[in-house]
Amino acid sequence: MLKINLSNINNIVPKARIISNKFKTLLHSQLDQDIFVKSKKDLLQSSREEIFKAIDTSIKDENLIGEGSEAKVYKIQSSEYVVRLIKNENTDGFVDYKNSLSFLISSRDKINHVVAKLGEGCSIMEYLPGENLCKCKCPRELAGLSKSVYYDLYKKICYAKANGMVFDVSPSNIIYDSDKKTLTPIDFIRKKRFTEETLPLSDIFLSFSLYLLLPQQSLNKIFNILLKIAKSEINSKHPIHKISKKDMTEFFRLYKTYCATEFFQSIDKIEKEILGKYK
Ligand SMILES: Nc1ncnc2c1ncn2[C@@H]1O[C@H](COP(=O)(O)OP(=O)(O)O)[C@@H](O)[C@H]1O
Ligand SMILES: [Mg+2]
Repeated sequence: MLKINLSNINNIVPKARIISNKFKTLLHSQLDQDIFVKSKKDLLQSSREEIFKAIDTSIKDENLIGEGSEAKVYKIQSSEYVVRLIKNENTDGFVDYKNSLSFLISSRDKINHVVAKLGEGCSIMEYLPGENLCKCKCPRELAGLSKSVYYDLYKKICYAKANGMVFDVSPSNIIYDSDKKTLTPIDFIRKKRFTEETLPLSDIFLSFSLYLLLPQQSLNKIFNILLKIAKSEINSKHPIHKISKKDMTEFFRLYKTYCATEFFQSIDKIEKEILGKYK
């Protein structure tokens, strides 16, 4: 059952607020979790030849852990890394990933979990255990995750946005680790390739909406969790990110597109009250 908390609705004050330094620090420490610390036995401590050898021997079907429109991702054997190889459109293989190897990683690369850059846009990334949402074996579990799990996902997408990176909206770009109960976004693109504004709240909800195996009731629950996050962000003196009116409007529009019609009336009221606060 969809339950919407109508209390506190009058306290919503969506005025423009600048992200405080305190929150910038929080966002950075959030990201720090993704920075992989090399151990002495780490693959990345090996020679260039050994690294490419490890990659080459790992390129086989049994190590293929994911494939998108642009790339194939293989687990590198005996390591905690994956290699993301861009497909060559003209052949069955990949672009020339062996023409460079660099450990100079920018904050944008870190957002994509990259630990080393290879030739022609290929990379070595930290391995994220779990499955992307499209392959998730227990869709119902997702709606039972705590608000903080969704808030962490939201923070990562907001952090990326603040760094000019756009989340490539898709259920295949969110990895669910059912052991650790985490949701991690992958596959961000540099903003200059897009003219459109990124909408973190709607982008998350759309990714779940496009996950067709997710039961309707679970999607309703996820909407509710995200609505709670949105409300507390709007009420917060130090929001992680100022939710734009466009993002809020789109969030409600998506709800009406993908969720059950029986709850629309109560949502209409909440939508009006929230959007009415924007100047
Ligand atoms: N760091 C990672 N750890 C584990 N699996 C990953 C990682 N990066 C990507 N994958 C898997 O590989 C798939 C394709 O990778 P992705 O970077 O999204 O390629 P594309 O840009 O072609 O969509 C993802 O949907 C995911 O299942
Ligand atoms: Mg992808």
